[in-house]
Amino acid sequence: MNVFILNGSNRRHATSTKLTTYIGRLLAEMDIEVTVFDLYGKPLPFYSPDEDAEDANVHEMREAAGRADAIILATPDYHGSLSGVLKNALDFLGKDQFDSKLVLSVSSAGGAVGTSSLTHMQAIVRNVHGVNCPEWISIGAEQRRFGPDGEPEQDKVKERVKRVLHYFVGLARQLRGIDS
Ligand SMILES: Cc1cc2nc3c(=O)[nH]c(=O)nc-3n(C[C@H](O)[C@H](O)[C@H](O)COP(=O)(O)O)c2cc1C
Repeated sequence: MNVFILNGSNRRHATSTKLTTYIGRLLAEMDIEVTVFDLYGKPLPFYSPDEDAEDANVHEMREAAGRADAIILATPDYHGSLSGVLKNALDFLGKDQFDSKLVLSVSSAGGAVGTSSLTHMQAIVRNVHGVNCPEWISIGAEQRRFGPDGEPEQDKVKERVKRVLHYFVGLARQLRGIDS
């Protein structure tokens, strides 16, 4: 199984990206192929419906998302919603990449939790015919601390991430008809 992770922060030391790096490691330990696209490292042009972008990063993102069996979207919580760069990236994608695939939404917020950014992402997922994972992950405030080993400092964050990932992987396999 291949999981595509789209990192939606435009910040070098983004905590949402640290979280998905940890998630990617856990998925690899579960023998799952992980493909990461980081919007900080690979910026995209502004989406325009007038012309299809002849852009290498757009092409790579579309191809990687299209190949995936399941998708993880990660965002910083900006004004109670997803980041502008992630929304722009999602406008380049659609049913070709999302149809009938399980999608896990992940966010990092300055406050305690960032559920509105997660519900906004889930509204977009529904509109591109993805299947929203009933579980999601929000880290906020002190939960955003990571050690030098790349692991969350708080045990309860680690436990929650692991529990959600096992659920996500099990459901994604069922949806795609993949034996574990
Ligand atoms: C433009 C902007 C808007 C923000 N709005 C919120 C907000 O509405 N609620 C919140 O809890 N934190 C808010 N924050 C704080 C970020 O969510 C927080 O710093 C988050 O951890 C950033 O994620 P990152 O580390 O992945 O970049 C905002 C930060 C910025 C820069």
